[in-house]
Amino acid sequence: MSPSMSAIPLAGEHFGMAVVYLVAGAVGLLWIAPDLARGAYTEPRVAGVVHLFTLGWITMTIFGALYQLLPVALGAPIRSPRLGHASFWTFAPGAGLFAAGVGATSPILRHVGITLVGTGVVLAVSNVASTLPRARARDVIWAAIALAITFLTSTLTLGAILLHNLQTGFIASARLRVLAIHLHVAIVGWALVMMVGVSHRLLPMFLLARGADTRWTKRALVFLTTGVPTLATGILVQQTVASWAGVGLLELGIACFLRQAYAFYRVRAKRSLDIGMRFAATALGFLSVSALLGPAVLAVGRGHARLDTAYVAIGLLGGIVLYIIGLFYKIVPLLAWVARYRGHMGKRRVPTVAEMFSSRAALVQLGAMGSGITLLGVGIGFGSERVVRCGALLFLAGVLLFVSQLVRVAFGGAR
Ligand code: HEM
Repeated sequence: MSPSMSAIPLAGEHFGMAVVYLVAGAVGLLWIAPDLARGAYTEPRVAGVVHLFTLGWITMTIFGALYQLLPVALGAPIRSPRLGHASFWTFAPGAGLFAAGVGATSPILRHVGITLVGTGVVLAVSNVASTLPRARARDVIWAAIALAITFLTSTLTLGAILLHNLQTGFIASARLRVLAIHLHVAIVGWALVMMVGVSHRLLPMFLLARGADTRWTKRALVFLTTGVPTLATGILVQQTVASWAGVGLLELGIACFLRQAYAFYRVRAKRSLDIGMRFAATALGFLSVSALLGPAVLAVGRGHARLDTAYVAIGLLGGIVLYIIGLFYKIVPLLAWVARYRGHMGKRRVPTVAEMFSSRAALVQLGAMGSGITLLGVGIGFGSERVVRCGALLFLAGVLLFVSQLVRVAFGGAR
C-alpha cells in the first residue's frame, strides 16, 4: 500500500500540530499532578489538559490519518482538500484556545475556542461524510469511520452542553452524569471505534500478517457501538441494569478487538516486532487494564474519585495515546521518506525508512512512557502526589524523545 501523494500536505500539517499538542499535554500533566493524585478530575485545569490530548493529539492525528487512509483503503480521496485545510486552520488554533480557556476558566477563550473547534469538527465531519458514498467497498473500515464520525458529532454536542453548564450551571447535579457520558462517547465511540476500524487494515499490513481470522473486528464494532448508547442511557436515567448491560457490551467489544489484534500478531511473518508494533501491543495491555477497572468503577459507584481518574488516565494515555504513537512510527517516517526521497531512488544512496529514526531511542521512549503511565495509575490509585509527578516526568521525557525522533525524520533521517 503506497501513500497518497496529494494527501501528504494535509496529513503533514495535522500531524505536525498534533505533536505540538502532545508536548503541551505532557507538560500539563506535571501541572495537574496534585489534582490527579487527589482524584480531582472535575477541576477545570484537569479538563483543560485532557483536551490538549483528546482534541490536540488524538482528534488531530485521526483527521490527518483519515486524509491518507480514505484514498488508500477505500479508494475515495477526500472530497475537498480545501475544506480539509479550512478545517485544520480552525480546529488547530481552536483546540489550544479551548483547552486554555477551560483550564484557566476564561469565558472569552472558551467561547472563541469552542467556536473554532466546532467549526473545524463540522467541516472535517461533513468532508469525510460526503467522501464515504464514493468509496469502492462498504466494508468494516467504512462502517467504523461512519460510526466514529457520528460519535464525534455527539461528543461535540455533549461538550457544548457541558461548556454552557460551566458558565451557567443549568444542568446542576446532572453534570457528573453528562460528563461520564461525554467522555465515554468521545473515548470509546470516537477514538476507540476509529482505532478498531483502521487497525483492521493497518495491523495486518504493518505486521505482514496473512490468513488471520478477521471476523472479530465486526463483532468488536457491534458491541462497542451498541454499548456506548446503552451505557449512556443507564447513566442518564440512573438505571443500574442498563448501565451494567452497557458495561458488558463494552467489555465484549474490547475483548473482540483484543482478540482481533492477537490474531494479526500471531500470524505475522516477521517474528521480531518493530517499534511501532511494540507501542501498539503495549497500548493494548493498558487498554485491557482500563477495561478491567471499568466494572469496578460502576460497582463502587460515586465517591471513589481516584479510581475514576485512574480508569480514565490509563485508558486514555495508555490505551489510546500510546497506540496512536505506535501507528505514527509506522506512518510518518514513510510519508516523510516518500516526500523527500521518492525522486532520488536509483540516482544516489538514500536511507531506508527504518533509518529515518533510531529504533533504540524509540525503545527508550516506550520504556519511559510505559513506566510513566504505570506510575501515574499507581500514584493516582494510592493518592501519592510524588509518584504521580514521577510518572508525569517520565511521560514527558518519553514525549521529548519522540519529538527528537520526529525532528530527525523531518530532516531526512540518518545517512
Ligand atoms: C468536540 C469538542 C469537545 C468539547 C466542546 C468538549 C467539552 C468538554 C467540557 C466542557 C468538559 C468539562 C466538563 C466539566 O468539567 O463539567 C469536558 C470533559 C472531558 N472531555 Fe471533552 N470536549 C470535546 C471533545 C472531547 C474528546 C474528543 C474527548 C476524548 C477523545 C473528550 C474527553 C473528555 C474527558 C475525558 C473529559 C473529562 C475531563 C475531566 O474533567 O477530568 N472531549 N469536555
